[in-house]
Amino acid sequence: MGSVTPPRLITADDLSLRPPVEDDAQLVAELMDVPISTERPAQIVRLWREHWDERGYGTWIIEDPAGRRLGFVGLRSHSDFIRVTIRVIEGEGGDDLATRALRVVVSHALEWLPDLPLRIRLAPEDVATREVAEAAGMTYAPDLDHAVDGDEWQVLELPYVRIADRVPPRAREAMLKMWGEVNDAGGAVGFVPGASQEDVAEVLDGYVARLAEGRTVCVALNSPLGELLGFGFVARSTGMTVAHTANLERIMTDTARRGTNHGALLMAGMHRAAREMGVELVTLDYRGGTGLGEFYTRYGYTEVGRIPGGVRVAPGDDRDGVIMARSL
Ligand SMILES: CC(C)(COP(=O)(O)OP(=O)(O)OC[C@H]1O[C@@H](n2cnc3c(N)ncnc32)[C@H](O)[C@@H]1OP(=O)(O)O)[C@@H](O)C(=O)NCCC(=O)NCCS
Repeated sequence: MGSVTPPRLITADDLSLRPPVEDDAQLVAELMDVPISTERPAQIVRLWREHWDERGYGTWIIEDPAGRRLGFVGLRSHSDFIRVTIRVIEGEGGDDLATRALRVVVSHALEWLPDLPLRIRLAPEDVATREVAEAAGMTYAPDLDHAVDGDEWQVLELPYVRIADRVPPRAREAMLKMWGEVNDAGGAVGFVPGASQEDVAEVLDGYVARLAEGRTVCVALNSPLGELLGFGFVARSTGMTVAHTANLERIMTDTARRGTNHGALLMAGMHRAAREMGVELVTLDYRGGTGLGEFYTRYGYTEVGRIPGGVRVAPGDDRDGVIMARSL
């Protein structure tokens, strides 16, 4: 990893997340529904702050743009995994808020934190939290079910990112299949619906060959069971003057699981990979008329160029080729 330290503040759309301060005992008392005069809320905040001091990450306090405290997303280090917890103040839109907050925190974790499984545990009847966790991309891991003092717990785990410089045959098959499905669903990854498997395989194998040259890496998002959920490539620019830049290419997720934060997690993994390569500036391009600019804007990109009619999707259907960039 480079010398960049993980940010302590996370901002997204209409919420921000920050490390706890002593005064947050007030929020904890409210969430626990106990008077602030009791010792426990202050003690919890103290433990949170100690965790931050020791690990450089921990529990984030969720705030709205007016600075109102709305809840927390907790990350706690265990020996071989990181446990996530989430609580928001009750009220309308609480689940929606929890979903948005959890989505950004798990993406942040995948991009910046130690490469350990991220898990949440919940009571089997806690459907609301389960839905929040699933909307953030987490999936049920039945093998991790357990009981503590007679209480049953179920565990959901976040997909993980693999940054690879080679693609084994089984992974190649899964990538080829996904790429074909993404094309047929109208995805903008170099082809049009109905593209032949041979044509896709040729481009994929071109990437596989370039991995061996060392300037390109493959970033795959995998489910805890090892299924491929998405992938893309980080291609470092050639030449001494541009070696600190890279292009992100062929970003795609499984068509059957769209909208479950996997795009965000994949972007987090790509940024992690780029940073590990020493890259400081990333670019990408997309096909105009797909709405993808909005998607990338969320992850800090701005449009830096546009080639009118630069992409021919079909005769008579020319789109702009749009270039976006961000620093890492
Ligand atoms: C772009 C892509 C990777 C996003 O993956 P995903 O699994 O849907 O990602 P997430 O669940 O994290 O994000 C979904 C969010 O992005 C938005 N989004 C996804 N694709 C979008 C698009 N084409 N235009 C506008 N917004 C888009 C969704 O509306 C959703 O927003 P919401 O959370 O407010 O509802 C995926 O749609 C994909 O593989 N597309 C086809 C391939 C492609 O075109 N890749 C881009 C190459 S430049």
